[in-house]
Amino acid sequence: MQFKHISVLPQKVLDFAPDKTQTILDCTLGCGGHSRRLLEKFPNAKVFAIDRDLNALKVAEYFLKPFENNINFKHASFSELKDCFVNWMNPLFDYILADIGISSDQLDSPERGFSFNHEGPLDMRMDPDRQHTTAAYLVNNSSKNELLKILKTYGEERFAWKIVNTILIEREKKPFKTTKQLAELVYKSVPKHLQKSRIHPATLTFQALRIAVNEELNELSELLKIIPLSLKPDGRFAIISFHSLEDRIIKHKFKEWENPCVCPHDLPYCICGKKSLGSILTRSPICPSEKEIANNRRCRSAHLRVFSFKKNNL
Ligand SMILES: C[S@@+](CC[C@H](N)C(=O)[O-])C[C@H]1O[C@@H](n2cnc3c(N)ncnc32)[C@H](O)[C@@H]1O
Repeated sequence: MQFKHISVLPQKVLDFAPDKTQTILDCTLGCGGHSRRLLEKFPNAKVFAIDRDLNALKVAEYFLKPFENNINFKHASFSELKDCFVNWMNPLFDYILADIGISSDQLDSPERGFSFNHEGPLDMRMDPDRQHTTAAYLVNNSSKNELLKILKTYGEERFAWKIVNTILIEREKKPFKTTKQLAELVYKSVPKHLQKSRIHPATLTFQALRIAVNEELNELSELLKIIPLSLKPDGRFAIISFHSLEDRIIKHKFKEWENPCVCPHDLPYCICGKKSLGSILTRSPICPSEKEIANNRRCRSAHLRVFSFKKNNL
């Protein structure tokens, strides 16, 4: 079995795990790279792991065979974690890891339709077994306003108007079916001087559609809701994100967990009664070193943030 994904910030993910970690939740198992390293460091730990991509679970199961007695897998998404917990008899965790986004294996499989570099169906579903809406469906059926919202909000795409107008004209002639068909249209829609840029002009459009197809921001917000209820006292939550939209949401949630008080600043004491859940361990996000980026360019936008929950948060 082959896998291409290189785990991001592997040493940092290990360093932030609490001493004597016994229970770990890996919310984004992928190929199992982070879980494997954690199990090598804590050989007696139990890992509970999910991924919404059945293919990834199969690869990870193979890769983690030597640790099969220490790991429980579930095919699930963040929004289904509550059901997983019930199934696992409600464990509490010392360390929770989420490495959100897609793996190189997903990106480099033409048939998954995530990449403008490979010809394939315009799909982008992380869970093709259970999700129905593909990127092609969104491109061919969304209204002008819906498409604009996707490209502007999830892609922060400067040329959203131009791209969407061109999509609307083209899809009347021929519905979008493939990745290259869309990538070429976006390429033609941006100003000439940007067509030569090192970053492909379709990068943000593809990112935006992927986020929309997989409802990634809803998933993230469901994950962040469940985290404080799932950790042991002194437990830690580490999360790696790959674009500013997600990093902003995480940063604000961490601030809210650390200081949830909503009282006006001029009140001499707190009357809202909201108590801090713990402290942020990474004032600024941790990013990969130049050396790591040289070895794996795809990690260049990674941001790791870690939160430590208080002893008495439960
Ligand atoms: C960057 S990869 C994880 C790589 C992994 N940490 C490793 O070292 O091999 C992200 C994985 O998270 C999964 N994923 C993304 N969003 C998810 C969600 N909402 N629920 C469950 N899994 C998700 C993807 O299918 C993908 O396999």
